[in-house]
Amino acid sequence: MSLKTVICVLWAVCVGHTEGIQHGPNIIIMLMDDMGWGDLGVFGEPSKETPNLDVMAAQGMLFPNFYTANPLCSPSRAALLTGRLPVRNGFYTTNAHARNAYTPQEIVGGISQDEILLPELLKKKDYVSKIIGKWHLGHRSQYLPLKHGFDEWFGSPNCHFGPYNNSVRPNIPVYNNSEMTGRYYEEFEINVKTGESNLTQIYLKEGLDFISQQATAQRPFFLYWAPDATHSPVYASERFLGKSQRGRYGDAVMELDDSIGQILAHLVSLGIHNNTLVFFTSDNGAAVMSGAHQSGSNGPFLCGKETTFEGGMREPAIAWWPGRIPAGTVSYQLASVMDLFSTSLSVTGVLPPDDRVIDGLDLSPVLFNNSLLDRPIFYYRGNQMMAVRIGQYKVHYWTWSNSWEEYNTGINFCPGQEVPGVTTHTQEEHTMQPLIFHLGQDPGERYPIRLHGEGGVYDLYWDQPPGGDRNVMASLLRTSVAHLGITGPITAD
Ligand SMILES: *[C@@H]1O[C@H](CO)[C@@H](O)[C@H](O)[C@H]1NC(C)=O
Ligand SMILES: *[C@@H]1O[C@H](CO)[C@@H](O)[C@H](O)[C@H]1NC(C)=O
Ligand SMILES: *[C@@H]1O[C@H](CO)[C@@H](O)[C@H](O)[C@H]1NC(C)=O
Ligand SMILES: *[C@@H]1O[C@H](CO)[C@@H](O)[C@H](O)[C@H]1NC(C)=O
Ligand SMILES: *[C@@H]1O[C@H](CO)[C@@H](O)[C@H](O)[C@H]1NC(C)=O
Repeated sequence: MSLKTVICVLWAVCVGHTEGIQHGPNIIIMLMDDMGWGDLGVFGEPSKETPNLDVMAAQGMLFPNFYTANPLCSPSRAALLTGRLPVRNGFYTTNAHARNAYTPQEIVGGISQDEILLPELLKKKDYVSKIIGKWHLGHRSQYLPLKHGFDEWFGSPNCHFGPYNNSVRPNIPVYNNSEMTGRYYEEFEINVKTGESNLTQIYLKEGLDFISQQATAQRPFFLYWAPDATHSPVYASERFLGKSQRGRYGDAVMELDDSIGQILAHLVSLGIHNNTLVFFTSDNGAAVMSGAHQSGSNGPFLCGKETTFEGGMREPAIAWWPGRIPAGTVSYQLASVMDLFSTSLSVTGVLPPDDRVIDGLDLSPVLFNNSLLDRPIFYYRGNQMMAVRIGQYKVHYWTWSNSWEEYNTGINFCPGQEVPGVTTHTQEEHTMQPLIFHLGQDPGERYPIRLHGEGGVYDLYWDQPPGGDRNVMASLLRTSVAHLGITGPITAD
């Protein structure tokens, strides 16, 4: 028996089991769509309409410093499932500087055949994987989830945009595994006038059924639960419509919160809660450009979706695994959706691919030992690294909200939050004199720490993707900070 086998056997014994065949922990990733950091009661949303998520946090670990890898759906989801930055996994664009890439129905591309997705790797340990809800990594047949490691799918390759007129631009299809089973607004109704749709209930039922089936068969599973009710046009079913103090967006949040409560309760009733890692987060910040009725809250953070300000990149996040993750804990770890890839592999005992750079970090020491790991966060918009965070310091090398052209049509990425020289409407390069914020003192990125002196030391390396350059980036930041005369160590809290 190899050392690895011994460790795996011991590990399986330690993790323990209710009964029957021992298998690794189940993984559930609950990924919300455009939900903001400030939408959860536990993060201070004043209406306190997320009792189930608040209890989930009380029973698990809350992450106030959790980030997406890109402030838009497709690249964010690609990063989660590959553990890699969009500049590595292909979900970026070079046809326009600093533009986020995604896959609307007109785009023929999708996730590269060369990328290895989490469910493909989990197959090595006989995991059954299902995606419920939005995929968004390409809608042509070769890009669909069942071609990239998932065994089952109920949902759609895209957002529920529309309704469209059938002949010229059809409504977005809904799939049941490899079969198209209908379309949004047709077989799967969304009433944009009243906001009524039963889709979250359907996604909930699909989730509960899948969990029951795998528990009965005693098979380990990975469930990627990705409902889209909080993406504009927001919707909720009749029982939730009109219930929120926050309007229709809040109704959608209440229904998702209720569903999450039901999924966790189901795990408990099946007795598999202590062998299931559940992670809740969102794909990008709230879409504040959609207006108050159609978007959520990014709490104290600047701007939202599409931008690399905190409102676009910082996500609500909770980890839950009763008996393994200490209840009622808060981790100030700087963490990323890409870490869900690495952490899922680690807890299931699957080795990550060794032929490519993985940007995710294994959060096991954080989850199980409350450790703090030293790591930067890189903020990308399309092909451009816009900013870096280390500890409490964030350095912007580029700033941009949206173009004057778009802004003048009434689309505002930072409504009510413009900061002169920061939320710029032209792409501004600050490499020679980076904009630095202390996110502990100034989470809203309103008061740049001014640099004095010449900026010559800052013009190195900023344009290159991280990797071997991480240490350079870190020392660059430390150099910037030292240059300011700020004393004391830069730590993760
Ligand atoms: C998991 O929970 C069940 C009861 O729900 C219990 O019998 C079992 O010992 C627990 N296992 C561990 C490892 O805590
Ligand atoms: C569908 O849209 C096209 C282009 O906007 C328009 O010419 C056509 O009349 C529309 N058809 C229906 C049935 O609405
Ligand atoms: C999807 O198809 C399966 C059979 O393949 C069926 O049991 C299930 O009810 C379908 N789901 C929905 C929501 O139609
Ligand atoms: C939702 O389901 C209920 C109960 O089956 C039904 O009465 C209602 O028409 C459905 N609503 C939509 C928008 O599909
Ligand atoms: C757990 O945390 C303690 C205290 O911070 C540290 O000394 C120890 O090395 C950690 N153990 C692991 C396995 O990370």
